[in-house]
Amino acid sequence: MGKVLVVYCSMSGNTKAAAEAVAAGARDAGAEVAVKTGFEAGPEDLLACDAVALGSYDAFSYMGGGLKDFLDRAFYPTKEEVTDKPYGAFVTHGGGGRAIGSVESVAGSFKLRKMADSVLVKGSPDEAASAQLRALGAALAEAAEG
Ligand SMILES: Cc1cc2nc3c(=O)[nH]c(=O)nc-3n(C[C@H](O)[C@H](O)[C@H](O)COP(=O)(O)O)c2cc1C
Repeated sequence: MGKVLVVYCSMSGNTKAAAEAVAAGARDAGAEVAVKTGFEAGPEDLLACDAVALGSYDAFSYMGGGLKDFLDRAFYPTKEEVTDKPYGAFVTHGGGGRAIGSVESVAGSFKLRKMADSVLVKGSPDEAASAQLRALGAALAEAAEG
């Protein structure tokens, strides 16, 4: 069974709901799933998983501080040890969504391998967005297994 880590930050719940949908999709596809906020997660979580989902709200067109904090703390301790590890990204936003670029850019610095299209959600995920998020989780579960 592959291990999927969902790490996210959320101020008012939209991204938390998105993270839970990604986790549900990964679980339904057979993965062992850990869900943590960026402030809870550490480099050991990134090392231990087989695939990772990175989620944030859009904060002034950049990722939120919780996810940035995790990525900053994880960078040196995981350097060269997570090359090619599969990842997917999701962002909730208020009408912009440009923060996705910052998540993808930093994932590139870690040399993570993008496994699926990033998911952008305006506000709280509705049924259609939840389906996209669950599909992202399922894709990561499959990648984690391989
Ligand atoms: C400090 C702050 C800055 C924001 N900046 C943007 C922005 O630049 N573009 C955008 O589309 N939404 C922006 N938003 C809106 C949030 O990204 C959006 O409401 C998001 O879904 C909130 O997610 P959350 O409920 O997980 O905190 C901002 C919200 C906050 C609190």
